[in-house]
Amino acid sequence: MSRPLLEVKDLEIQLKLSNKEMVKAVDRVSFTLNAGQTLGIVGESGCGKSLTVSSILGLLPKGTGRISGGEILYDGVNLAEFSNKQMREIRRKHISMIFQEPMTSLNPVYTIEKQLTETLRAHSRITRKQAYEKGLELLDMVGIPAAAERMKAFPHQLSGGMRQRVMIAMAVSSGPRILIADEPTTALDVTIQAQILELMKELNQNLKTSILLITHDMGVISEIADHVAVMYAGRIIEYAPVKVLFTNPLHPYTRGLLRSIPRLDREIKDLYSIEGTVPPLGEMPKGCRFSGRCPDCMERCKSQDPPPVKEGDHEISCWKYANA
Ligand SMILES: Nc1ncnc2c1ncn2[C@@H]1O[C@H](COP(=O)(O)OP(=O)(O)OP(=O)(O)O)[C@@H](O)[C@H]1O
Ligand SMILES: [Mg+2]
Repeated sequence: MSRPLLEVKDLEIQLKLSNKEMVKAVDRVSFTLNAGQTLGIVGESGCGKSLTVSSILGLLPKGTGRISGGEILYDGVNLAEFSNKQMREIRRKHISMIFQEPMTSLNPVYTIEKQLTETLRAHSRITRKQAYEKGLELLDMVGIPAAAERMKAFPHQLSGGMRQRVMIAMAVSSGPRILIADEPTTALDVTIQAQILELMKELNQNLKTSILLITHDMGVISEIADHVAVMYAGRIIEYAPVKVLFTNPLHPYTRGLLRSIPRLDREIKDLYSIEGTVPPLGEMPKGCRFSGRCPDCMERCKSQDPPPVKEGDHEISCWKYANA
């Protein structure tokens, strides 16, 4: 079997809290992204999704976060050991990222043309004119109508959906092998969300860009992912191919997430929500981290941490499925 494009092994991230206490915010996180595929990372707010992907790009909060264990193998090379300079090269050519709110990543005082052509010229030796032509092509590719006019616009003159398309155009302009998208559609309304997801699917198919998609929306995952990692409180608690996860979810947390997807055949009032909240950093329960909220909690769950158990390509950390 060929080597995975990205392989995260036992990743551990420590954060320094404001009281100077060091806590593990991400722990025992392992997943793989194969070339041309889309991996979805899903989980409630605060479970460590953004920290995990920021660490892949060497963008953990400065002075606060650090990788304290594990490996991030990109094409077999460990990015966790890269210098800042080497990581800049990775971000420039190999792995790009788009964020939830494109307005924060676009510079409000420059036109789209300036930002797009400068990004393009930073990646390859081309003239201003060639960069402009390429910019038009990219805007066209991401479905921006009247691209020449949009080039002259400032970010605030575009709608949220258009801004996200511009960000995607910039992110793919260097021909990255991996596109990391951190909640790329959360700030958009539902129709635009669907269009942006469709665009990402096209990029995945046409440009063969592998995608790491972070979301808290199971519906989005079902649309676009090949594999899914479900995170809870800094850990991956279930990991499987998307079809397996949706037809046979095992972890009580995953089941809860799936029951909370709105469906046409269900009344909104019947929509399920998981009781309680994610335990705060530094106050992780001794046993299973979900035990305090789990409808199926058993005695041992409160005192013993369940190890990950693998059955084929379905991995789960839950005492219901562990024999030991
Ligand atoms: N710069 C930081 N300083 C202190 N704590 C942080 C920092 N960044 C993240 N955290 C904490 O680390 C934990 C994981 O955060 P992270 O941003 O990875 O969550 P997330 O899963 O991306 O959530 P969301 O869905 O809200 O984006 C949270 O408890 C968060 O408060
Ligand atoms: Mg986040």
